[in-house]
Amino acid sequence: MTTLSLIDDAPSEGVAQRIDIRAFDAPLGAEVIGLDLSKPLSQADFARIHRAHLDHHVLVFRDLDITPEQQIAFSRRFGPLQIHVLHQFGLGGHPEVLIVSNIIENGKPIGLGDAGHFWHSDLSYKEKPSLGSMLHAQELPATGGDTLFSNQHLAWDTLPAHLQKAVQGRAAEHTYLAKYAELQKRSPWRPNLTAAQIAEVKPVVHPIVRTHPETGRKALFVSEHFTTRVIGMPEDESRVLLDELFAHSVRADFVYRHVWRDRDMVFWDNRSVMHLAAGTPDDQRRKLYRTTIEGDAPF
Ligand code: SIN
Repeated sequence: MTTLSLIDDAPSEGVAQRIDIRAFDAPLGAEVIGLDLSKPLSQADFARIHRAHLDHHVLVFRDLDITPEQQIAFSRRFGPLQIHVLHQFGLGGHPEVLIVSNIIENGKPIGLGDAGHFWHSDLSYKEKPSLGSMLHAQELPATGGDTLFSNQHLAWDTLPAHLQKAVQGRAAEHTYLAKYAELQKRSPWRPNLTAAQIAEVKPVVHPIVRTHPETGRKALFVSEHFTTRVIGMPEDESRVLLDELFAHSVRADFVYRHVWRDRDMVFWDNRSVMHLAAGTPDDQRRKLYRTTIEGDAPF
């Protein structure tokens, strides 16, 4: 296990807040009541939130009335922020905030409307995938728009022995472009990429089983969205193995389904979970702001 990867150089003079952390009756997740980010957060409160994030993998902050600046500042306490390759969907003046939205204004999408259409861990296609992501609700549909999270420590712990043996010590390729053309055919949210954008997302290779850098727990680290092949394995065998891993990794008993409430902010650990956007009916509007914190190179 390595040391904590936090950048916690924020002021420590904050007064203790009445923060209540309640675990969900689910394979992961807890809700956090009472956090007020308009006030300085004490080191002790920050440490509690950090510990809860490691223990529960997904934190749901309720009633968080915050500005994008406050979301950015809170996210930065966990590490440097990543800017999404689809820069055109960054919030004006705040490139670190990705707008996740199905809203079309004046014939143009205001954000990425099909983010999370396939199971994935954020930015696994980068050398340093994301440590965690924070998604803050701005406008929610009356129905639909849920987000599902699957616990990848449980996925590894329960993987049948023959599959554990098959993946031990192996690595797989992750590619941002894996599903891009397919998504582009079916939605208005996937612009043609420039040469510079394509150069930003060259394929990378990561271990299939990763070790969480802060807890030492092992997790399965492959996804339907971005993982394309097992390195050093014939294509047909690699396909069969990946399909088995994908099916196992999202077993219903590993999954928590988040039904959004106004002002929720969800903070998930991309080293421990994968997520999926369940989809929003076409006639309903949904808008959320996402910040993404850089993590370590998986090992
Ligand atoms: C994402 O994959 O970051 C978006 C998830 C969602 O829109 O529910």
